[in-house]
Amino acid sequence: VAEPGALTLGDYARLARERLDAPVWDYIEGGAGEERALAANTGAFDRVRLRPSVLTGAAEPLLATEILGRTWGAPFAVAPMGYQTVADPEGELATVRAAGETATPVVVSTFAGHTFEDLAAAAGAPLWLQLYCFRDRDLSRRLVERAERAGFEAVVLTCDAPRLGRRLRDTRNDFRLPPGVEPVNLGPAGPGGPGYARPAAHAAAEFDPSLDWDVVAWLRSVTRLPILLKGILTAEDAARAAAAGVDGVVVSNHGGRQLDAAPATLDALPEVVAAVDGACPVLLDGGVRRGSDVLAALALGASAVLVGRPVLHGLAVHGRAGVRRVLDLLTEELADAMALTGTASVTGVRPELVRAAREPRT
Ligand code: FNR
Repeated sequence: VAEPGALTLGDYARLARERLDAPVWDYIEGGAGEERALAANTGAFDRVRLRPSVLTGAAEPLLATEILGRTWGAPFAVAPMGYQTVADPEGELATVRAAGETATPVVVSTFAGHTFEDLAAAAGAPLWLQLYCFRDRDLSRRLVERAERAGFEAVVLTCDAPRLGRRLRDTRNDFRLPPGVEPVNLGPAGPGGPGYARPAAHAAAEFDPSLDWDVVAWLRSVTRLPILLKGILTAEDAARAAAAGVDGVVVSNHGGRQLDAAPATLDALPEVVAAVDGACPVLLDGGVRRGSDVLAALALGASAVLVGRPVLHGLAVHGRAGVRRVLDLLTEELADAMALTGTASVTGVRPELVRAAREPRT
């Protein structure tokens, strides 16, 4: 272990902050506006207390999880995050390799710094494509086709970004992507080419601000892959997504980087789970920083979670080995939390972990 003193994801965050240039740290860590949604995500998890069951006879907890027909090492995957080469030159390649070692799927951003083909060749676990729909719909279609050909297994359409949120840290820093950090999958002539070093200007120029529910049918017409919608926060939208026949939803407020007044994802989860009513898996991201956070999300009905910034922290501290360590810590913490709450397996996670059953059992 390269960082023997780093024993929590929070430790990795502190180490990453020491290593990264301040504007890069701010780009990774920051949220929109006054960062209330950002704080709400972690705050909601901080308030959770788990209700353990004792003397359950559960031995070693089983973490393996089945999602969309594939077995994940544990009920979490890596959230899509663009431009990972800001944290380490190996960027997404390091992330994908480390994740593969632990059977952890990775959602690859439209703005990845390595090609889909190279990432697929390096992967040891499922890759999903995160898709931004551009004004140039044909460019988005080509991205999906390339990812599908490279062996990606699902498409995650980001629905909460008709425009980019007001990331005030980046504005104050006049943040520009460092030279060489580029969304290589878009090609030099496409969005992200020279002149697009500011993520906010880039998004304003290229994101399709007028997406509506027809986009689901359009996506179905261009790919056979399962389709998930990322950025669902209400029962109404969850019901619509289920009615549209999507294969999954991701309860997300984009890590607090879009609507600052958005609810904490953990608080939004129960209404989404109720509205989806088992039609498809419900994933969650935002603020997951401990194994017990994963367990809390599962108890509230998530099938699995995505982990964002902590992976970049590991990447910044120690590249691939740092990512591996962050994923291992989360896995160990989850196994601990399961053992200490009497939870034998991921499918055996009970809602009573987070709230008392209405009728106390006799
Ligand atoms: C993101 N996120 C994101 N989401 C997306 O759909 N496409 C993207 O390209 C990115 N890029 C991105 C970059 C960085 C630096 C961050 C921190 C986040 C949002 C991401 O997928 C996820 O929703 C949140 O990061 C999850 O919250 P936590 O785990 O970071 O709190």
